[in-house]
Amino acid sequence: MAILKILEYPDERLHTIAKAVPAVTDNTRTLIRDMAETMYTAPGIGLAATQVDVHQRIIVIDTSETHDQLLTFINPEIIANSGESEREEGCLSVPGIYGKVRRAEAVTVKALDSEGKEFVLDASGLLAVCIQHEMDHLMGKVFVEYWSDLKRSRVLTKLKKRQRNRM
Ligand code: NI
Repeated sequence: MAILKILEYPDERLHTIAKAVPAVTDNTRTLIRDMAETMYTAPGIGLAATQVDVHQRIIVIDTSETHDQLLTFINPEIIANSGESEREEGCLSVPGIYGKVRRAEAVTVKALDSEGKEFVLDASGLLAVCIQHEMDHLMGKVFVEYWSDLKRSRVLTKLKKRQRNRM
């Protein structure tokens, strides 16, 4: 297993649109294991392949308190959604920044698991938000891009300061 490097906003590569996985192979499973290890180590509750500069439609999520309920979604598709919710979100690609985004309260998602088997999952609350956030990454969208230009420019200033301090 390996810990992968997570791209940080405003890295242009985060705006890449991921391609569908044509076939789930051992290489796919190795990537998924590495993504999971990267997510747990960070630590975070979700990671999209886009964030580790692999532009394939794969996400991993674990919103459990025990960190042992890994969910893998390959080629995910939201087939139904309902309600509205606004929750504070964060992102491993935008360290130290948190803020609200309006999303559906519940989603039904269809995807393949790590064996290439199709499944359908009904999710609500935090899990539903997380699925939508990670699926946005696959479309090249980062959560701060829902915010106004003013709020986003404050985010960029804060991130630059943070990156400078790290050097
Ligand atoms: Ni994110």
